[in-house]
Amino acid sequence: MFRYENRVAIVTGSGSKRGIGRSTAITLAELGATVVVADLNEDGVRDTVAAIESGNGKAMGIFLDVTDKESVQKMVDKVLKTYGRIDVLVNNAGISQRLAVEDMEVEDMKRILDVNIMGVFLCSKAVLVPMKKQRYGRIVNLSSVAGKRGGGFFGGAHYSASKAAVLGFSKNLAREVAEDGITVNCVAPGLVNTDIWESLPKDVADAIVATIPMGRPGETEEIASTIAFLASTEASYITGEDIDINGGSHMD
Ligand SMILES: NC(=O)c1ccc[n+]([C@@H]2O[C@H](COP(=O)([O-])OP(=O)(O)OC[C@H]3O[C@@H](n4cnc5c(N)ncnc54)[C@H](O)[C@@H]3O)[C@@H](O)[C@H]2O)c1
Repeated sequence: MFRYENRVAIVTGSGSKRGIGRSTAITLAELGATVVVADLNEDGVRDTVAAIESGNGKAMGIFLDVTDKESVQKMVDKVLKTYGRIDVLVNNAGISQRLAVEDMEVEDMKRILDVNIMGVFLCSKAVLVPMKKQRYGRIVNLSSVAGKRGGGFFGGAHYSASKAAVLGFSKNLAREVAEDGITVNCVAPGLVNTDIWESLPKDVADAIVATIPMGRPGETEEIASTIAFLASTEASYITGEDIDINGGSHMD
C-alpha cells in the first residue's frame, strides 16, 4: 500500500494492549518500517514488540515518559545511535479523565495538559534536529473529536482543551518546517473500540452509538491505517491537515 522501506518510526503510547498506538505500531511494522515502541508501561512495550516480531517485523522497545524532557532526549539519542535516522513520529501517548469543570482541580488540568500537549511539544522538538538534517520527516499527532466540537464521548474540558491545543500546535509547526521536507498532520478519532468502550453498561453504549451515523465505534486498525497514510512517503503534499475518523459523528 505505502512505502516504508528503511523508515524508522517512533510511536509513543504504543504499549497499551488494546490501544491505537499498538495498532499503529503493528501496521507500520507490517508495511516495512522499523518501529520504536515507546511507553511508560514496560510490560506493554514488551508485549507490542513481541507482537511485531512474531509477524517478522522489526521493533525496538523503549521506556518513555513524554512529559520528561530528559526521557524524550534519551529515547531520541538511542534511536539515532541504533538506526542513524528518525523518519516518523506518531505522538499518540495520551490520557483522559471524565470530570466536570466545577469538580476539576488545578492538578487535574495540569496533568492532562502535561501529557497531551507538553508531551507532543517535547517529542516533536526532539525529532526536528535529525529530521531537518535528513530533510525528511513525518509527524502525526493524535487530536480528537473532543478537541473539535468541545467534548467527545468521554473526558472533560481539560481533555478537549488539550486536543484543541494539539491541532493549533500542529498547524503552526507544519508552517515552520514545511521547507525542510517535514510534514505535520493530525488525526481526530471519534469513539474507538478500546477497553473503556467495552466496560460501558449496554444502555449507555447503545445511547452513544445512536449518535453515530455509522452506528458503531471505530476500530483501532481504522485509526492506524489513516495514520499510516499520513506518515507515508506518498503523503508528501499534505501538511497542517487533520483527518476526522469518526463514523460521521462530526463533520467539518
Ligand atoms: N480511544 C478513543 O476513543 C480515542 C478517541 C480520540 C482520540 N484518542 C487519542 O488517541 C490516543 C490513544 O488513545 P487510546 O485510547 O489508544 O489510549 P490508551 O490508554 O489505550 O493508550 C495510551 C498509552 O499512552 C501511554 N502513556 C500515558 N502517559 C504517558 C506518558 N507520560 N509517557 C509515555 N506514555 C504514556 C499509556 O501507558 C498507554 O499505553 C490518545 O492520545 C487519545 O487521547 C483516543
